[in-house]
Amino acid sequence: MRLLPSLLPPDQQRRLVAELRLILDRAPLYSPAMPGSGKPLSVRMSNCGPLGWLSERSGYRYSPTHPLTGEPWPAIPAMVLDLWHSITGVAYRPEACLINYYGATARLGLHRDQDEDAGDAPILSISLGDTALFRLGGPERKSPTRSVRLSSGDMVLLDGPSRHWYHGVDRILPGTSQLLPEGGRFNLTLRRVTRP
Ligand code: SIN
Ligand code: FE2
Repeated sequence: MRLLPSLLPPDQQRRLVAELRLILDRAPLYSPAMPGSGKPLSVRMSNCGPLGWLSERSGYRYSPTHPLTGEPWPAIPAMVLDLWHSITGVAYRPEACLINYYGATARLGLHRDQDEDAGDAPILSISLGDTALFRLGGPERKSPTRSVRLSSGDMVLLDGPSRHWYHGVDRILPGTSQLLPEGGRFNLTLRRVTRP
């Protein structure tokens, strides 16, 4: 995994948040259900791009439409596509941009991203707002892990073997960023879903 600190300068972070607000006006954040139990995740989610990642009682899947509005997801902003191409170096576009919102007490358990047919394509994640304690694991659930701080403007690139490594968010450090008036943290995860 490559941690890319402070890659997005503050003015670009603000531009990106403004783009996010427009997206979320059309595709509102919602509380996804955990597969099996149907209990709500603490992280609220939305998506942009041709496909969006959904967690439902019946399992995980990609969908071209928002589960509550039934509308297609808004497009991925041009500045986000530019970041994808310049940082990953790949010519094909991402198809899914998952938008996670972490309030003060939200967390995300250790998991691997493995619902994509494009298993070799890199994953790029962009952090905005409060700092997260991000847990970096390895190829197996029992692999050793370590904790790193992800601050606003930091990015993480999962490429090569690390594309399939375990990771999660232990917690958010409330009040560590002034970027979002409501507090909390947005994370954008860009993924290719179908084989390029
Ligand atoms: C994720 O793994 O889906 C999100 C990671 C993060 O919020 O940094
Ligand atoms: Fe993930």
